[in-house]
Amino acid sequence: MTDKYAVIGNPISHSKSPLIHTLFAEQTGQDIRYEKIESPLDGFADTITQLRGDGYKGCNVTVPFKFEAFKLCNRLTGRARAAQAVNTLLFEGGEILGDNTDGAGLISDIEQNLACKLLFKKVLLMGAGGAAHGVIWQLFNAGASIVIANRTLDKAQQLASEFSSYGTVFASSYEALTGKPFDVVINATSSSLSDKLPPLPSGIFAPGALAYDMMYGKQTPFLKFAQEQGAAMRADGLGMLVEQAAEAFFKWRGVRPKTAPVLAKLRQP
Ligand code: ATR
Repeated sequence: MTDKYAVIGNPISHSKSPLIHTLFAEQTGQDIRYEKIESPLDGFADTITQLRGDGYKGCNVTVPFKFEAFKLCNRLTGRARAAQAVNTLLFEGGEILGDNTDGAGLISDIEQNLACKLLFKKVLLMGAGGAAHGVIWQLFNAGASIVIANRTLDKAQQLASEFSSYGTVFASSYEALTGKPFDVVINATSSSLSDKLPPLPSGIFAPGALAYDMMYGKQTPFLKFAQEQGAAMRADGLGMLVEQAAEAFFKWRGVRPKTAPVLAKLRQP
C-alpha cells in the first residue's frame, strides 16, 4: 500500500515540497504519495486529526503552524525541543512524534553543499523570530560562535539568553555591528519577503565570508548587498529546503536520498 504524507501550511500553493519528496521517492524506490494541504488558520489541530484518521504516516509543517505543531506532539527530539518548533511529524502507534529538521538542513547545506565548515566560525544570525530560533541550536552544535542581530534588540537579547548555556552568543543592534567582520552572515529575517534589506552597516563580511539568505527563488536585497560588499560566497535557501526535506524523508523512511540531483533539478530554469 502506498504510504501517504503531506505538507501543511497556509498559504501552501507555492510549496516545492511535493516535488522534492516525489523526486526522493523515485530515486530511492519508496512507495509514497506526498501532497500539499492548506489548513485553515484556526484549524491546524483538526487538520492533523483528519490526516491521522485517514491513515497518513506523517507530515511536514510550515508557516505559520510550526509552533502549534510543537505543542501537539506527545514526543519530541532534542533539536525540536531546543527550537520549540516542529516541521516534521510522524504518526506512530497512536502518538504524534515531532522533529525539527530545519537547522540540520541549514548546516548540511552550508557545510556539505557549500563546503564551508562552521567549527570556530563567527556567525552573524540576523533575525530573532521563528526562523532564527529554529536553527540556532544546530549552529552551536556545529561549533560556531553566534551574534544575533535584530531590529528589536530585546528580542535578540531574549533569544541569546535562552541559548547562552549552549555556547558563545551575544545580542546586537545592527548599528553596533560596524567594524565587526563575520565569517558567515545568515539572513533569518523575513525582510526578503518584502524586498527589504536589514539595516546592515558596511564591512561585516570577513575575507572568504559566506552570505546566506534563508529565502530562495530570487536575488534578494541582502544577497545583492553581499555581492556589492565583496562577500566571497553567496547562497539562497533552496539548498536548505532540499536538505531539511531529505532529513525528514530519512526520519520517515529510514533511507537517505541524494540531494544534489534534486537541487540541480530545482535550479533548472
Ligand atoms: P519568521 O518565523 O519568518 O522568523 P517572525 O517570527 O515574524 O517570522 O520574525 C520575523 C523576523 O524578521 C524578526 O526578527 C523581524 O525583526 P523584528 O523583531 O525587529 O520585527 C525581522 N524582520 C522583518 N522585516 C525586517 C526588515 N525589513 N529588516 C530587518 N529585520 C526584519
